[in-house]
Amino acid sequence: MTVAPRPSSPAPAFLMCRPTYYTIAYEINPWMSVKRQAHTARANAQWTRLYQTLTRQLGARVSLLPPTPGLPDLVFTANAGLMAQRVFIRSNFRYPQRQHEEPVIERYARERGWRLIRLAARYDFEGEGDALWLGETLIVGFRFRSDAPVHEELAHILARRVLPVELADRRFYHLDTCFCPLDRRTVLWFPKAFDRYGRRVIERFADHLIDVTEADAMRFVCNAIVVGQSIVMQQGASDALRRRLAGRGFRVYAVDLSEFLKAGGSAKCLVLTLNRSRAMSEA
Ligand code: ARG
Repeated sequence: MTVAPRPSSPAPAFLMCRPTYYTIAYEINPWMSVKRQAHTARANAQWTRLYQTLTRQLGARVSLLPPTPGLPDLVFTANAGLMAQRVFIRSNFRYPQRQHEEPVIERYARERGWRLIRLAARYDFEGEGDALWLGETLIVGFRFRSDAPVHEELAHILARRVLPVELADRRFYHLDTCFCPLDRRTVLWFPKAFDRYGRRVIERFADHLIDVTEADAMRFVCNAIVVGQSIVMQQGASDALRRRLAGRGFRVYAVDLSEFLKAGGSAKCLVLTLNRSRAMSEA
């Protein structure tokens, strides 16, 4: 079972942000309720476990975006933008509460010397939260957070095929809450989160689909981080799912991220991929 990346290739790299100022300060998805506050110490401990799993067990390099007071959701770095082909496409957040993250992300990107791209037209786009690679095709989820027309501009910038799929269930408001490519051909997903056309597109482009039950989907098992054959996901996945993943040669690292589920997020939302080819197995 491959756990560490091949010695010749650089380690997979992610961006994370400590939950120092993480709270449930507003309600912009069905999981959030200001009456159900996050427990700060527990959130910090859970985040640290995830960080350590990635860095110590899976050999990933993790850069840290400095936390900022008043920006509780900055911890969900998957939404900062999309890093691809040496350019960083900065997000345009849908909700004003998160739009304040844009200048902070932009400053960080400039400090790091990333080639920053802002979308020319003002369409909403929530970065890797709504844009995931299936091989060389970028799948973009739209409706709740990202706008459909953004796919054209992404295709132009990236010179890759970009397929927009509509999300149909507001509990799964970002693509990464219900769709997780495990390698170039295999996808872990919750089909009911998509409309019929979206389901057909995904069925056409993925060779192996692993459907999850609604109960597993509600635990955010699709919001998983993939490093080679290793999958980091919320603990509590059903035995049936664990067996299916093991049967395809994947090893699950279970982490408890219950404090982040209160904001509608889990493992994948907490990282932004900085070097895709290293994180995803080439198999
Ligand atoms: N509270 C955040 C929001 O509603 C959670 C973001 C989760 N991120 C993700 N990539 N699914 O925007």
